[in-house]
Amino acid sequence: MTNKFKKAIEIFDGWALNDKDIGMEENHTFAVEKMLKHITKTKNSPFSFIDAGCGNGWVVRKIKSYHLCEKAIGVDGSKEMILKAKRHDPKGSYIQAELMNWNPESKVDVVHSMEVLYYFTNPQKLIEHIVENWLSNSGMLISGMDYYKENPNSHSWPDDLNTRMTLLSIKDWIKVFKRCGLENIETFQTNSSNDFLGTLIIFGKKSK
Ligand SMILES: C[S@@+](CC[C@H](N)C(=O)[O-])C[C@H]1O[C@@H](n2cnc3c(N)ncnc32)[C@H](O)[C@@H]1O
Repeated sequence: MTNKFKKAIEIFDGWALNDKDIGMEENHTFAVEKMLKHITKTKNSPFSFIDAGCGNGWVVRKIKSYHLCEKAIGVDGSKEMILKAKRHDPKGSYIQAELMNWNPESKVDVVHSMEVLYYFTNPQKLIEHIVENWLSNSGMLISGMDYYKENPNSHSWPDDLNTRMTLLSIKDWIKVFKRCGLENIETFQTNSSNDFLGTLIIFGKKSK
């Protein structure tokens, strides 16, 4: 990594301390609601859920209120985000960990991740790790991202935030998901406006 860049986790520690997680939650809510809607419409029996890069844990708290969600865990590398998550929900499962180094005690049915995968230099490695060690057979990985090739307004973010990001096109993300053993991959964009192409939502199922 070039010296000028900071680690994403360090940046988000600062965001948590400055309450910038609140604005982030507001900005991500529209797309996340769509993602959660997609998850819940495909479920008719109890399911377990991990939010990879959960920030202050707001998505975990949201999905926990859904009657079929029997377990929800939030994982994030930022100590300050996890402290906040636990403050909001002392009985909840929030774990501070580098995503690449963490495994759940038992595999889950759904892994959700909002605005996280592109912070990895090699997102394929992370997705492989998730598919192999976190997801049960036929489990779903669903991710939302605003930073992607077709969305030029996001291209300045690595410089703006002073951190490394991996810029991929929609086709590239589909290829990566496929290479990691996911199938029935679909994408859509949501929350578009005149100057914003929208959040890219991508999801796929682990093959049996
Ligand atoms: C843009 S924030 C999104 C947070 C949350 N998903 C939300 O929508 O509010 C990205 C999150 O990913 C976490 N993160 C980035 N790289 C990580 C890594 N290598 N391991 C664990 N967490 C990481 C950051 O700490 C941060 O909380």
